[in-house]
Amino acid sequence: MFEKIKNKKVLITGASSGIGACMAELFSSYGATVGIHYCRGYERAKKLRKMIKAKGGEAEIFKADLLKAKERAKLVGSFISVFKGIDILINNAGGIIGNKHFLNLDEKSWKETFSLNVEAPFFLARQAFIHMKKNKGGKIINISSIAAKYGGSTNSLHYGAAKGALESVTIGLSRAGAPYNILVNTIRGGFIDTPFHKKFKRPNIEARIKLIPLKRPGEPMDVSRMALFLASESGDFITGETFSVSGGD
Ligand SMILES: NC(=O)c1ccc[n+]([C@@H]2O[C@H](COP(=O)([O-])OP(=O)(O)OC[C@H]3O[C@@H](n4cnc5c(N)ncnc54)[C@H](OP(=O)(O)O)[C@@H]3O)[C@@H](O)[C@H]2O)c1
Repeated sequence: MFEKIKNKKVLITGASSGIGACMAELFSSYGATVGIHYCRGYERAKKLRKMIKAKGGEAEIFKADLLKAKERAKLVGSFISVFKGIDILINNAGGIIGNKHFLNLDEKSWKETFSLNVEAPFFLARQAFIHMKKNKGGKIINISSIAAKYGGSTNSLHYGAAKGALESVTIGLSRAGAPYNILVNTIRGGFIDTPFHKKFKRPNIEARIKLIPLKRPGEPMDVSRMALFLASESGDFITGETFSVSGGD
């Protein structure tokens, strides 16, 4: 079912942790060549590369702080120069900067949250798009959040807004990419059990989980399988769509 993912060159941002790390392992197990992008998680990225290589896979690590335009600008080019092309870009790196009630939110947190969750994915996608156009095809998968559907909580309103903008970028790029067989889709994650949540002191985590119709948090693998589906031949007639992996949320 996922045969054509073999030997595809896949750059996954934020692959040093949580969902991205799980995707890197899963894609590699199907024979893809993976770029493990990281920012602060050098040791985690290195460990993942070692694990993938030990299983016979091909992987390399790439550092970039996606809040810094200069570092961001080199990422896709570095991946292409190492692997001689790019077939799939997964814009997975993201998060909430300034987990604060919107009444107290500072402009820096608003701007950085947008920079990480929509500006960086857009500029990375644009660079990948240029190469995919020459190659007559490619896939871009943007990782959004259920926060885009609800507008986020009072502490993550800016994050919900940024993810909403990312979903809009997906639609725009999918229309621009269709004539070149560049397929662009969004996966909207629900509450997924990753280090993402450990960064914030959330006293009401159990109450949040009870609100999920399936009454459990998602696992990184739940999102990764959807990404694999879209990236493989199973997703060859799908573009401009948003898929929720959220237990019914
Ligand atoms: N967990 C959830 O419940 C959930 C739900 C919906 C959507 N999502 C989305 O899913 C994606 C992955 O989240 P996750 O749960 O796997 O979170 P995570 O475990 O916290 O991982 C976040 C990743 O983003 C990278 N990152 C953070 N800031 C960065 C920066 N300035 N520059 C470059 N990379 C940066 C991190 O790199 P380093 O660790 O190397 O710094 C890490 O690899 C995010 O886009 C998130 O918004 C998560």
